[in-house]
Amino acid sequence: MVQNLAPIDRAKLSAARCAADRVEDGMKLGLGTGSTAAWLVRCLAERVRQEGLKLTCVPTSARTAALARELGLRVVTLDDAGWLDLTIDGADEFDPDLVLIKGGGGALLQEKIVATASDRMMVITDATKEVTTLGAFPMPVEVIPFGWQASRMLIEELLGALDVMGTQASLRMNGSRPFVTDEGNHILDLALGRIGNPRQLSLALNQVPGVVENGLFIDICDAVVIGHPDGRVIVRDAITGTEAEERIRFEDSDNIFREI
Ligand code: 5RP
Repeated sequence: MVQNLAPIDRAKLSAARCAADRVEDGMKLGLGTGSTAAWLVRCLAERVRQEGLKLTCVPTSARTAALARELGLRVVTLDDAGWLDLTIDGADEFDPDLVLIKGGGGALLQEKIVATASDRMMVITDATKEVTTLGAFPMPVEVIPFGWQASRMLIEELLGALDVMGTQASLRMNGSRPFVTDEGNHILDLALGRIGNPRQLSLALNQVPGVVENGLFIDICDAVVIGHPDGRVIVRDAITGTEAEERIRFEDSDNIFREI
């Protein structure tokens, strides 16, 4: 079954499986959003079924909540959970300092709130997301619908004075209508090309009226799990500064396909 997956999905599943294996009984967990996070939810559901783990899960989107519930995970709100042990989520880009761009799936606001309300955040990814300098991926910024065009003008003006290559901000669309986040907001995708100073950019963006949050995750991610199609996984830990290699045995993952 796993062998039928595209190489990119085998890589994502490898990372998800490795992260799921690190989850301990009784944990309060933040569940990310996106295709890699969906593999994680399946792997966790399999462990709950097979080992009887007791987990309390806080999803970062309606999509993830629906999948988690469907697979039998216990889902609560962040306010009910209080504080989380660990959040596991995907990313669109990560750099050598484990600074992330997130929000490709439009869930950056809940993702950032949940990740920062956790003792640890672990990113699960394939190797294509690793960059030396952030910015090739269009950087998502969540803005409130009221006056979004004014917010966009202010953002583009601001970008002209910052250490980035491009300044164009495009409204994300869903067909012929603006994309709407789970919080009822819109997303502007910034074509920056290169982000010279992520910290400065993040602070500046969040000063613009109408901006709710931006997709830069700085000093939030503690470890990145990088999966490869052959089951090889690299775990890079920002806290210990170490890197370890593991191998996932795909035959152990075949049970998750019962639920798909
Ligand atoms: C959603 C995100 C996702 O984590 C990011 O887009 C990566 O998605 P995928 O795992 O599908 O590549 O930030 O808002």
